[in-house]
Amino acid sequence: MAVRETQVIDVLKTTFIPGIKKLILSAGMLREVKVLGDKVLISVTIPQISKENEDKLREILTNRIKSLGAKEVEISISFRKEQNIKYSIAVASGKGGVGKSTVSVNLAVSLAKLGKKVGVLDADIHGPNVPIMFGITDRPYVNSEKRIIPIEKYGVKVMSLGFLLENQSTPIIWRGPLVTKAIEQLYNDVEWGELDYLIIDLPPGTGDAALTVTQSLPLKYGLVVTTPQNVAIADAAKSLGMFKEMKIPVLGVIENMSYFICPHCGKKSEIFGHGGGEKISLENGVPFLGKVPLEMKVREGGDSGIPAAAMEEELETKKAFEAIAKKVVELSLK
Ligand SMILES: Nc1ncnc2c1ncn2[C@@H]1O[C@H](COP(=O)(O)OP(=O)(O)OP(=O)(O)O)[C@@H](O)[C@H]1O
Ligand SMILES: [Mg+2]
Repeated sequence: MAVRETQVIDVLKTTFIPGIKKLILSAGMLREVKVLGDKVLISVTIPQISKENEDKLREILTNRIKSLGAKEVEISISFRKEQNIKYSIAVASGKGGVGKSTVSVNLAVSLAKLGKKVGVLDADIHGPNVPIMFGITDRPYVNSEKRIIPIEKYGVKVMSLGFLLENQSTPIIWRGPLVTKAIEQLYNDVEWGELDYLIIDLPPGTGDAALTVTQSLPLKYGLVVTTPQNVAIADAAKSLGMFKEMKIPVLGVIENMSYFICPHCGKKSEIFGHGGGEKISLENGVPFLGKVPLEMKVREGGDSGIPAAAMEEELETKKAFEAIAKKVVELSLK
């Protein structure tokens, strides 16, 4: 009886990669399984291992699949390229709508303007809207080595879950394992090149979505965005708690929508109260990175695809992001 594809996949699911003690399908990726009569073809991508361990793996797989009834087994193993990313920083917020994506995008652009090599990974499974904020309508392409080439704009390499969706306005329900695979792909299979900073826009909150994404990526630092009012900082504390639990050091807290700048008279109003971001930083012993005012141009830029940090005008927000970017550089080097 011919071997079934599902049997082969089961073998891949339950075979450890010699040398790294991880299962093939959890540490690696299945490219192809084909059964042609009594011949089985397998193609997988796994983390780099030695030639000796690669030979061992081929032998184990061949034996296991032959024992299912196959006469011939052809295995193609390719190695995953290790990414060359110095600091991957996840941006979290206790709840939605506080400006997490706005901060991720503008921080990335400001870091690029400081001469850093920067990427943004939009990992918000609920609403990946970083492409809109960057004004990107193209889709990334996949090269002959099956690597995804990110789209570059304002000096930043951009990759988004949204690029993987057929229609960005159709909500999809992501199941846990699917999220993990998609996020890992956005990190591992993308040709990021050498990066100083990869800014990751997490899904809002500290629920399953944010946790799954945080666990799926090798993170160096966390960063928390909050607004100044008391109800928001209670939520921001949860994000700090999430990073603490996952043992990811927090680079700092950014307070967004700190005060409103009237587009007519330039007067400042603290419509959401005062000092929440500083308070929560102090209470949790993490640095306060700065305040970003609520400015009309920021929202307009978000909608039209020109981040405030990339605008020509001398905006307060632009200056705020510049100062925050400098702090991020200073603190990440420590
Ligand atoms: N400092 C600011 N000044 C003016 N508008 C802002 C500012 N920060 C964010 N906004 C606007 O507020 C809205 C929400 O911001 P954003 O999408 O960045 O929040 P988010 O936390 O990523 O939300 P979500 O939880 O939906 O992902 C956007 O329209 C954005 O343009
Ligand atoms: Mg967002």
